[in-house]
Amino acid sequence: MLELRDIHHRWDQRPLLDGVSLRVDAGRTVALLGASGSGKSTLLKIAAGIETPERGSVWFDGADLTRTPPHRRGFALMFQDFALFPHLDVQDNVAFGLVEQGVPRREARERARALLERFGLGAHARSRVAHLSGGEQQRVALARALITQPRALLLDEPFSALDAALREQLRAEFRERIAEAGMAAILVTHDEAEARAMAQQGWALEGGRLVPRW
Ligand SMILES: Nc1ncnc2c1ncn2[C@@H]1O[C@H](COP(=O)(O)OP(=O)(O)OP(=O)(O)O)[C@@H](O)[C@H]1O
Ligand SMILES: [Mg+2]
Repeated sequence: MLELRDIHHRWDQRPLLDGVSLRVDAGRTVALLGASGSGKSTLLKIAAGIETPERGSVWFDGADLTRTPPHRRGFALMFQDFALFPHLDVQDNVAFGLVEQGVPRREARERARALLERFGLGAHARSRVAHLSGGEQQRVALARALITQPRALLLDEPFSALDAALREQLRAEFRERIAEAGMAAILVTHDEAEARAMAQQGWALEGGRLVPRW
């Protein structure tokens, strides 16, 4: 279980997160809604360890991870701007996390290609990421997040650049894998229909606090 406990965080002296607590069980998805600038991405970055909260703590299965660096948490974060590695081709972007985990490069690339195939990007495995469209880059970022089988999956507007058919396909793929692999997932989205399709529980971030939606 992923747990955020009483997170406080300020930006420019302004309280952004004002006592946020959230629990996500293994295999479940919690949706995070809220206006632009309300702090959703900041909260995900705090969960991932990319930002340190001024106060409060981050836990997973009873262990305090607040001071654990991001790469040691076993979480995957998919950023709103994708944050792909521009110097690597598509398959190496996706294989990166596996190689980091010690998987031999050849096997990592094979697994990356298999996942890219499922995401409709088989033909682009050797392309430079800069040459892909926005929606294609988003799928590369999704594959990169999923391939390491993280214990927590933190997704920031993951399907926003996709057409309706692809979005539906990838939602289904993620729902299945989250449940099967028992990942704890947080989904940030502006799309309430998408949030309800993916998440068993929804919250809105308003004035630095979480308000239950369903
Ligand atoms: N590292 C940072 N650099 C610049 N601004 C930041 C940073 N962290 C937080 N902020 C500010 O904090 C506020 C919340 O930002 P955040 O990105 O968390 O919002 P958000 O809810 O994800 O918005 P959106 O829906 O537009 O993605 C914004 O006003 C933003 O300018
Ligand atoms: Mg954001």
